[in-house]
Amino acid sequence: MQTLVDHHGRSFPYLRLSLTEACNYRCAYCLPDGYQANGRPVFLVLEEIRRLVRGFAALGMSKIRLTGGEPSLRKDLPAIIAAVAAVPGIRRIALTTNGCRLPRLVRGWREAGLTALNVSLDSLDAARYLDITGHDRFAEVTEGIEQALALGFEAVKINAVLLRGRNDDELPAWLDYLRGRDVALRFIELMQTGENREFFERHHLRAEGLQRQLLADGWVLRPRAADAGPALEYAHPDYRGRIGVIAPYARDFCAGCNRLRVTARGDLRLCLFGNFGVSLRPLLQSDDDHDALVAHIATQLGLKAAGHGLHQGLTGITPHLASIGG
Ligand code: GTP
Ligand code: 5AD
Ligand code: SF4
Repeated sequence: MQTLVDHHGRSFPYLRLSLTEACNYRCAYCLPDGYQANGRPVFLVLEEIRRLVRGFAALGMSKIRLTGGEPSLRKDLPAIIAAVAAVPGIRRIALTTNGCRLPRLVRGWREAGLTALNVSLDSLDAARYLDITGHDRFAEVTEGIEQALALGFEAVKINAVLLRGRNDDELPAWLDYLRGRDVALRFIELMQTGENREFFERHHLRAEGLQRQLLADGWVLRPRAADAGPALEYAHPDYRGRIGVIAPYARDFCAGCNRLRVTARGDLRLCLFGNFGVSLRPLLQSDDDHDALVAHIATQLGLKAAGHGLHQGLTGITPHLASIGG
């Protein structure tokens, strides 16, 4: 079987598939004014998603991450999860969500075949959470995480974007939270997008200080599996939870990049910071195009660049992450 490996020796164990650009949140670093639809976009429908996933599975891909925007805004999300789970070769299905609908929906997702869950939670303080996300849903999200932990997912992860002056003093609270919970918290360095330049200037914080603090407190960097993503992960014998750091501006970040994205409109994106995508949609209209789709994906992969070039002075020209599937 062909496998997904590029010219730089990187393999691609999974696809990040955005289900919608829409989001009900207004995170200060992403969609501060909320999602504004541009025209009446039609996002990939269930049949297109099924064909797309079959195409990637034929190339050896075994994991799909469903993302957005906010994927839970799609009423057919359980049906999508079930359809993806039914594709031969797909063994893991993960979902990235802002978490506000977890209490109502997470059990149904699990029953449909979801195997892992990533929830955004930028602060452990309800007032700060509201301030950062524009939504007073801290109680629902934290309650939803508790429910998810009881459902036997292979992994439950929490994403917190590090923000200077907004949530950069919360390590002690997070340590309390992690002591008894089997979750992987990931601190994500704020990324500059075309739409958050000023916010980025004010609130971007390098994760290095935090990493030094973790080491000083006895956290130990875990060895990374060959196919692990860009996160560095730390563990501590006194804590059930783990702490990860995603530092996209660190020098060797791209060398470990194993991300492939398909946007909600069906464009294949090879890098978050490269400003081009190629549409796979014409090849998703009929089962007869399966072989052509597989060949096309394999060709496109050969074009993935070695890195985002941000260290060579290029500026990231990615739009907000809701539009391309963070
Ligand atoms: P898993 O390792 O499967 O849990 O995936 P993940 O860590 O990518 O999960 P998630 O969707 O929760 O991603 C968290 C965030 O990490 C993304 O939204 C980005 O902010 C960041 N991230 C993930 N992959 C990349 C990448 O390829 N490049 C950059 N710059 N950031 C990334
Ligand atoms: N920088 C870093 N992380 C971001 N996310 C969204 N936009 C940005 C950005 N500009 C994060 C969200 C969520 C994940 C999918 O991506 O907080 O946890
Ligand atoms: Fe929505 Fe996620 Fe963007 Fe927040 S970061 S506005 S939850 S897409």
